[in-house]
Amino acid sequence: MKYKLLHIHTIGCQMNVYDAERMAGGLKTIGYELTPFPESADLIIVNTCAIREKAEQKVFSFLGSLLTLKTKKPDLLIAVGGCVAQQEGRKILRRAPYTDVIFGTHAVGRLPRLIEQAELGIRPVVDIELSEQIEESDFFLKAVSDESISRFITIMQGCDNFCAYCVVPHVRGREISRIPESILEEIRDLVASGVKEVTLLGQNVNSFGKKQCLCSFPELLKMVSRIDGLERIRFTTSHPKDLSEDLMAAFRDLDKLCKHIHLPVQSGSDRILKKMNRKYTRDIYLEKIAKLRQFYPEIAVSSDIIAGFPGETRTDFEDTLELIRQVEYDSLFVFKYSDRPSAPASRFSDKVPDKEKKARLDELLELQGRYTLEKNQKLIGKTEQILVDGFSRKSEKAGEIQWMGRTSGNKIVNFTCNSDTGLKGKTIPVRIETAFPHSLRGTPVKTEPE
Ligand code: 5AD
Ligand code: SF4
Repeated sequence: MKYKLLHIHTIGCQMNVYDAERMAGGLKTIGYELTPFPESADLIIVNTCAIREKAEQKVFSFLGSLLTLKTKKPDLLIAVGGCVAQQEGRKILRRAPYTDVIFGTHAVGRLPRLIEQAELGIRPVVDIELSEQIEESDFFLKAVSDESISRFITIMQGCDNFCAYCVVPHVRGREISRIPESILEEIRDLVASGVKEVTLLGQNVNSFGKKQCLCSFPELLKMVSRIDGLERIRFTTSHPKDLSEDLMAAFRDLDKLCKHIHLPVQSGSDRILKKMNRKYTRDIYLEKIAKLRQFYPEIAVSSDIIAGFPGETRTDFEDTLELIRQVEYDSLFVFKYSDRPSAPASRFSDKVPDKEKKARLDELLELQGRYTLEKNQKLIGKTEQILVDGFSRKSEKAGEIQWMGRTSGNKIVNFTCNSDTGLKGKTIPVRIETAFPHSLRGTPVKTEPE
């Protein structure tokens, strides 16, 4: 087989990172090897994100930058995949007529066949079909791209929630869960290749299995936690309306489940939550947080908030600030509301001016910054179990190595250790000594697991 080079440029969420691995694995079967250098590639894939306008702009500016390469090297194949490909289809050709292949979010498994058609000279090759089925074999294409000890694994695709601002149900299709046995098999394979931590991915993992009457998400977690050699389990994302007591109890009962939950609230105002179609109220959300903390008091909680949703008044916004003060999140991701043409909110009136959205975003960041630092400072003097990801960089001092890892609560910890091998992938106790806004620093108590 002729040896060809593939470069994948991924924009967006963890699901796209996982899809990139499936693309690489599938294309390996027709002779493509990964390269980090676009200039040397025979095929470049732009793996796209449509969640906000800014992400979409990034896609088109990267695609624009490929024109020079394509002019220099006319045989170069350019493929656009992921959410923007799904959303725009052939319209991509208006802005980048030199695109050879356009493939949607459900076409990853068919990619090798699509690329073969392009190799035969067919132009353009377009596949943006969305199906109601899940093709389990598509998930076994993955090429192990590196030696990372922590990997993502998609357990369900699509979303049925139709939040008013969100493009996901329109570009990833209806919610559908994978078969538990197949997920377990994939994780066992990863563990056999040295992986210690998996993050289970879905738009709303709490509703895993419900539609097809498979097992529940807490049951899946229990099965995953029985896999020998796997040390840590994480998951994202949870919709607050579906957060069950069984899942809360899993934090208390399953040692391997990391003590962190990402529970996007989006807004602290009941009026806005209703307009967003979130299907919970501020009080319901707060009750769930209180209950979670009864099950596991030290659980780290993070969230997403949208600033300046259409019709958001200063009073609504203050409700959000107050909710942040009440919850005291460990960390927060904040976004300026962005119109998505396929989402209903793009047709809502009373749009908040960009300047105001930016001011609210800054206010949210300022408020949360204080809590994040405070939460980090509370860990000073404590010994945390750190799963070591690898070394971050060589220290200025000869012989010293800077290592990096995460706490169970997902906080980054840097530490120095003179040994330069053997630590990666180990879970070791580290005493926390200094807190920064986005990381911690400490000293290992031992360099062997306890
Ligand atoms: N504008 C701004 N933020 C958005 N998000 C989703 N859609 C939009 C949008 N149109 C945010 C939500 C979600 C996160 C992944 O992205 O907060 O939880
Ligand atoms: Fe989008 Fe809402 Fe589905 Fe999350 S739950 S992916 S915000 S529609």
